[in-house]
Amino acid sequence: MHRTRRQFLGVAVAALGAAALSRRTMAGDRPLIEVWWHPDCGCCGAWMDHLRAGGFDVASHPVAEVGRYRRMLGTPSNLLSCHAARLDWLVIEGHVPALAIRQALDQRASGLRGLAVPAMPVGSPGMEIEGMAPETYDVIAWGQDGRQWPFLTMRGGVPA
Ligand code: CU
Ligand code: CU
Repeated sequence: MHRTRRQFLGVAVAALGAAALSRRTMAGDRPLIEVWWHPDCGCCGAWMDHLRAGGFDVASHPVAEVGRYRRMLGTPSNLLSCHAARLDWLVIEGHVPALAIRQALDQRASGLRGLAVPAMPVGSPGMEIEGMAPETYDVIAWGQDGRQWPFLTMRGGVPA
């Protein structure tokens, strides 16, 4: 595709105007998710594979103390799971499906701050266990104001 200089400048200015957007633009169509996880955990890697398959880039940070990063991100203490993550302004905790993350990306203006799948439901992405039926579970959202609400109900890897 050929781009005129004017079009190119327009893209550059738009990117400067919105830091969130520029990060996504620079990553092409694969927004970057940073993940902090403990090296003893096997399911965190499986979740990161799910993210990559779902069209995201992943920056993987194995750390001794995940809690430190959760506190930094402001993750509510009643929603904890095995790993902490962040996509630009969106905070993520646990085995949140790529599908839910995609849906959340354009909802910043509505006051959304983060998404969590508390604990580790069987059948959630990265928690598939052979011979065990997938659980039904909620992806919980929390707001910049601290409010929490069910964002999406899932059964295993698909909306329930
Ligand atoms: Cu896990
Ligand atoms: Cu994990």
